[in-house]
Amino acid sequence: MDNKIVNEILISSGNFWMPAGASTFSSGIDSLFNFIVWGSTLLFFAIVAITLYFIVKYRRRHAGHNYNGPHVTHNTFLELAWTVPPLILVTIIFYWGFSDFLKMSVAPQNGEEIRVVGKKWLWQFEYKNGTKTLGELVVPVNTPIKLIMSSEDVIHSFYVPNFRIKRDVLPNRYTTQWFQAKRVGNFQVFCTEYCGDGHSEMLASVRVLSHKDYVKWLKEAGSVSPDMPLDQVGEKVYAAKACITCHSIDGSAKTGPTWKGLFGSTRKLVGGTSVVADENYIRESIKNPAAKVVEGFGPVMPPYEGLLSDREIDGVIEYIKKLK
Ligand code: CUA
Repeated sequence: MDNKIVNEILISSGNFWMPAGASTFSSGIDSLFNFIVWGSTLLFFAIVAITLYFIVKYRRRHAGHNYNGPHVTHNTFLELAWTVPPLILVTIIFYWGFSDFLKMSVAPQNGEEIRVVGKKWLWQFEYKNGTKTLGELVVPVNTPIKLIMSSEDVIHSFYVPNFRIKRDVLPNRYTTQWFQAKRVGNFQVFCTEYCGDGHSEMLASVRVLSHKDYVKWLKEAGSVSPDMPLDQVGEKVYAAKACITCHSIDGSAKTGPTWKGLFGSTRKLVGGTSVVADENYIRESIKNPAAKVVEGFGPVMPPYEGLLSDREIDGVIEYIKKLK
């Protein structure tokens, strides 16, 4: 999990209110946010000051003192003063917010489309040439990206703080979100709709590359050459398919059991039984992790059924065998 929080530097490089902005939306959203926060702060202190002034001015001065002010029925100037300026203020906020909302809702025609699938508890991205990545969205810089998103199970929400974008991801319906990254780097993705045990682990990152690097990446990504040794296939899968998020290879415990020394060991399972970690056990634990859950861990791994080819699963098994 720790290595999935990619963006600590950028989050801390923002200000007290916001992480550093990295998309074309950032400055507009931040200006409106600042306008509302500082406007409200100013009004708050003004109202408190006036209230205190009246408390002192109209206090009861001594026992028996009875202050009878003039009999007031209305005051046109005051009534206009507390109606018209606030009306102007909220109209400005509405116009400003709504025009930014429209800009964010309508994606430019020349954008690059990427499919996003959320499921308990991972993010999958599919690019136009069929390449799929898990847990990492790779995009070119300075290019409009249109995300077409759906969920395989419950409601999730795709949130990239640095880009100031957040949209719910729903089952049985597509939602879209576009953005244009303004700089190269890695940015954190969160799920911001509570979706079960693994909600807080449902992380991903956005890797923004230069246009040249992106074209190169898209050509090479996901292609496991047929003559690659199986253990190297597994090593590639470990990083590319988000296994690295929850499984260490150095013996340390993360959200899931470490892969070091896993093969051939006896696993104590929830419910008291035990099983030897052989090829079939690992294969089953990849495709249907809930079938045998190791004691001390939660059933939070998403089923990888359909997400890995047989050769990739073979690769993972050979890679685990090597980690003694
Ligand atoms: Cu997915 Cu919370």
